[in-house]
Amino acid sequence: MFFRASTVAVLAAFASSVLAAPAPSKVEKRQGEVVGLGQEPSPTYTGRAYGNLELIASLLTAPLQLDRVALLRDEDFVFDFRNPPGNIQVATGNAGRVVVANRKTFPALIGTGSGMAMGFLGPCGFNTPHTHPRATELNVPVVGSLNTTMILENGVRLVNNIVGTFQLVPFPQGAIHQEFNPDCGETIFVAAFNNEDFGTSQTADNFFRLANDVVAASVGGNIVIDGRDVDQFRDMIPRNVAIGVEECLAKCGLAKR
Ligand SMILES: *[C@@H]1O[C@H](CO)[C@@H](O)[C@H](O)[C@H]1NC(C)=O
Repeated sequence: MFFRASTVAVLAAFASSVLAAPAPSKVEKRQGEVVGLGQEPSPTYTGRAYGNLELIASLLTAPLQLDRVALLRDEDFVFDFRNPPGNIQVATGNAGRVVVANRKTFPALIGTGSGMAMGFLGPCGFNTPHTHPRATELNVPVVGSLNTTMILENGVRLVNNIVGTFQLVPFPQGAIHQEFNPDCGETIFVAAFNNEDFGTSQTADNFFRLANDVVAASVGGNIVIDGRDVDQFRDMIPRNVAIGVEECLAKCGLAKR
């Protein structure tokens, strides 16, 4: 068995976020449930276009914007982040969820070169480290704040900020970044993308999908945490949105198993 202190620290952070679970008493609302903000959903929104592959195919082959508009109804131009009609492109973990409007969930985006996501993070909710392979993200918390970190590429320093309500943080295309709600209330963020199919790649999840000996060679030795090896460890990586860092859990009185 061989491992480096830094590797263990990173893995321990993942492991503790897996093992942590919110104390029910402190979290009244179902985690990830969306605040009402006093607004009713658009009465015309039907969700007809959501994931409608036949319609999407027609839109993708329509030669002009005017042809695309002819294929869409007025209500198809509205997307409801609070109540999407299905679960495609919705990441749901134990501390919140991220809902994605891209050209599949919201076909009216076809031809716009744009996409959007909204994150609804419970106390300490953690949008785990990830990259967007085809877009830069512009992220604005509209309720609460985010502790954000990004690493743009090899040799570039880690950039860490608290981003407050109505402040903007950009995550350039391909940068590894993470956000977590450092507070005990809810955080809601809006993230705009310059691609209709911006895509998301969860860094730890995908790294640990590599072959065991490849993972071991990449980290300078076998990984053994609490007697668990890579095979077992892989299954411990939390689903996004995960429950966050220890400091926040302690502050908010959320239980860590
Ligand atoms: C963000 O959270 C990390 C982990 O708890 C902490 O070390 C860091 O200081 C926080 N960043 C800011 C700017 O407060």
